[in-house]
Amino acid sequence: MIRTLGKVDEQVLREIAEEKKIRRTREVFLLFSLGSQFDHLIAMAMAKLGVFCLVADPARITAEDVKKIMPIGIILSGGPVSVYKDPPPFDERIFDLGIPVLGICLGFQLWAQHVGCRVVASDKREFGVHNLTIVSRRQLFDGCSSIMPVLQNHGDKIVSVSDVEPGFFINLGKTENAPISTANFKHLWGVQFHPEVTETKSGPQIFENFCFKICNARDRFPAKDVAQKKIADLRQQIGGKKVLLALSGGSDSSVVAYLLKRAMVGRLEQMRAVYIKGIDRPDDEIHVLENFGNKRFDLRIVDATKKFLEALTGIENGHEKRVAMRGVYKSVLEEEARKFNASFIAQGTLHTDTSESGGGYDTGAAKARIKLHHNVGLGFSVPELLPLSDQVKDTGRDIGRAIGVPEVLLARHPFPGPGVIVRTEGAITADKLRIARQLDGIFIEELRRAGLYEKVWQAGVWLSASKTTCTKGDDAATGCLVVLWAVSSVNGFTAQASRLPDDFWDRVDQRMTDEVPEVGCVCIRRTGKPPATIEFE
Ligand code: XMP
Repeated sequence: MIRTLGKVDEQVLREIAEEKKIRRTREVFLLFSLGSQFDHLIAMAMAKLGVFCLVADPARITAEDVKKIMPIGIILSGGPVSVYKDPPPFDERIFDLGIPVLGICLGFQLWAQHVGCRVVASDKREFGVHNLTIVSRRQLFDGCSSIMPVLQNHGDKIVSVSDVEPGFFINLGKTENAPISTANFKHLWGVQFHPEVTETKSGPQIFENFCFKICNARDRFPAKDVAQKKIADLRQQIGGKKVLLALSGGSDSSVVAYLLKRAMVGRLEQMRAVYIKGIDRPDDEIHVLENFGNKRFDLRIVDATKKFLEALTGIENGHEKRVAMRGVYKSVLEEEARKFNASFIAQGTLHTDTSESGGGYDTGAAKARIKLHHNVGLGFSVPELLPLSDQVKDTGRDIGRAIGVPEVLLARHPFPGPGVIVRTEGAITADKLRIARQLDGIFIEELRRAGLYEKVWQAGVWLSASKTTCTKGDDAATGCLVVLWAVSSVNGFTAQASRLPDDFWDRVDQRMTDEVPEVGCVCIRRTGKPPATIEFE
């Protein structure tokens, strides 16, 4: 969780001064988080550049506060609301302070409206990757090509600039449906697209240009060894107490296992890992046993299949299924923690999980809940240890690499805690569970066989409730419609469909329809995130 600046008093100013001393800099940036799903990625982009960036609460930090902090640059993130209907709380006098501002999406629309532009709902909304054409070159795009892919996620656009003070508003670029996709007005800069996501290939360059060319930053703080800091923090938090780790064998919980192992050197017997089986991938248990069994960790396997099936009986809706699954997950961990007399429950929860569950920053800005992740806000009776809760998938993996977590653990495809239940439409039954797991097994096995597993970030099968007419042998029949998807991504916030060879898809289709009698037809999903999410539910 990133601490958000909600007030500026003497104490806060002292803390900022202290942090500047440690970083050997006089420079600070402010990021106003307006509730975008991606705002954490902006903070991470700034961290990668090595600049000191504080996250500010737009509802509470005023122009007077900003003057006390005197940032050399301000960034405004995107957000889920519209400037003309339901504007986010923000003191617009901040735009008049003369401090360079980079507005992203909603942040851009906010300053554009402030200086007299008209922002309207677009009849053609833009979601996904589009080409930006630069129409006027300024420092923000130094080193970027004239046509570049950018990720858009907006329903509003800036249209009229007739009321703006003449001579200062410069349209810098356009996309097919956004005639003003990036602009500059005096010290204010804006982009309608998202430079913080990996699909915008020139994003890091744009942040670099904003910080070092427009705001004239000079200092880059040498990257800290984040892993060492986390180990030290864990050691201090845990003291001599016991820890129970929820271990799925995915990269996040595996990295946490290794962080804990380092933090608890000499008293590993005070740490236990629990693997919960039932709605997992067919090969997960073997993977966990191979990598964490054999006394390397005190590992317990708990078969919760019956409990999951009971809790899920008759529940059709995706969110409700997630809620039911969380109940079982929580009760199993609570029970195991009690048996072990553990004072903490550790999980591999990422910032992505918290953010998509509708939380993340403690700002007043509204954040949409995309889906309730299984490992967020469970309210255990003992405190949680979430050492990766400020990380996203790729930075979590980097931490793992820094402390020697084997690549086989880091490279494993992410698999959601709710497992195949969020990949199966409608109510879950033992039969559906069996089919979904079998299909997943075939897909992943074929990806490995074709040497494609490492080229894909995540892949899965959606078992729909639709039946298609089919003809098997000489019989007429019906069979389930299943949808396959494989995506490339870096951190799970955004994703694009992977391009895989036709003969690979043919082979998977053949095996699924041959080996799983219930399958009627196999389709492939091409939609990226946004607008889809990676999982179906
Ligand atoms: P979505 O579907 O939101 O998923 O695009 C982003 C990434 O998160 C995984 N995911 C989950 N992981 N608990 C998890 O640990 C969950 O409840 C959960 N739901 C989705 C998803 O597989 C993808 O990698």
